Amino acid sequence: MSEDKLLFTPGPLSTSPTVKQAMLRDVGSWDSEFIEIVERIRHKLLELAGVSQAAGYEAIPMQGSGSFGVEAAIGCSVPPEGKLLCLVNGAYGERILNMARCLQIETSVLQCAEHDTPDLEELTRRLNEDPAITNVIVVHCETTTGIVNPIADIGRIVSAAGRTYLVDAMSSFAALEIDLQADGIDYLISSANKCIQGVPGFSFILARRAALEASAGQARSLCLDLFDQWQSMETHGRFRYSPPTHSVLAFEQALAELEEEGGIPARAARYTENQRVLSEGMRQLGFRAYLPPERQSCIISTFYYPDDPQFEFQTFYDILKQRGSIIYPGKLGEVDCFRIGTIGHLFPDDMRRLLSAIEAAVVEMGLNRSLPVGS
Ligand SMILES: Cc1ncc(COP(=O)(O)O)c(C=O)c1O
Repeated sequence: MSEDKLLFTPGPLSTSPTVKQAMLRDVGSWDSEFIEIVERIRHKLLELAGVSQAAGYEAIPMQGSGSFGVEAAIGCSVPPEGKLLCLVNGAYGERILNMARCLQIETSVLQCAEHDTPDLEELTRRLNEDPAITNVIVVHCETTTGIVNPIADIGRIVSAAGRTYLVDAMSSFAALEIDLQADGIDYLISSANKCIQGVPGFSFILARRAALEASAGQARSLCLDLFDQWQSMETHGRFRYSPPTHSVLAFEQALAELEEEGGIPARAARYTENQRVLSEGMRQLGFRAYLPPERQSCIISTFYYPDDPQFEFQTFYDILKQRGSIIYPGKLGEVDCFRIGTIGHLFPDDMRRLLSAIEAAVVEMGLNRSLPVGS
């Protein structure tokens, strides 16, 4: 088998050898050993968000990728006659809108440019003027670009207006500090294979218990019935249908490694240093970043294609792949760009190796480094 490449992507991410090793076991899904692992994981997730069951919060793992968790949360939390206001500045916000439409949930959209964050005055106005809006959702780090939306400011407005607040923190949870209670978040969704550095297999939802209780019977899907999954976890400690046992084992190891590293502050510091090394190196190589530094997260960075007719993304990608690195294509509608992730089991020296490979690709493709880049 060929050697693993390093994944400079938004996930699934590169994982440590010990996380992969932890999966090499079979455990019974109804066995007390597995049930206890699930219970420990649920407690640890709440702790990472600065809350607890005693404070009125619950953690619910849900089979499937991150999108399944988002769909479970909106499909359950929006009441039958409710309306979901989606704050959209990228592809993942658009996906939420599509989910809601598919579930036949009434929606309202507050859209802004992909390099911008939502207009908070407009949000206040919408909530004041449209009493039909029951729920509001925003993506924390829009992985489309790497921009971070101000979830605490949005939370204050949504809480003051008495609406249910959902945050898609898929790519940010465990990389950026989030205080569920202080930010007034009713539902936060993330997944196993992002910044906790586990492997794919399940998403998880952290929810305020009172909001969950109010959602009983509202699910628009049997498999993605979040309330029922919670009830099953509470009564038997079980997932309702076959659990992803191997990825749960890997996740417990990943949580232990997060703690060994020094928790979220230490992980955030490593990702921040990864991103600093990357952005500085890319600037020196003549690439232009899509976002201004003040809007750039430590999670993923978007770069314009060089303004050179010789540049072809697939060739660039293939050269980097030959040198052991996988990067990510762009996801912006109008702009030619590519993305480089700085999360996962990656360290500043990995970023330096990637930069050397990028430099080699620039030479091999004959790109003119004296030309201005970007558009
Ligand atoms: C912010 C955000 N939301 C949702 C998703 C979808 O997650 P998944 O691909 O695991 O379904 C992603 C994936 O990268 C994401 O970054």
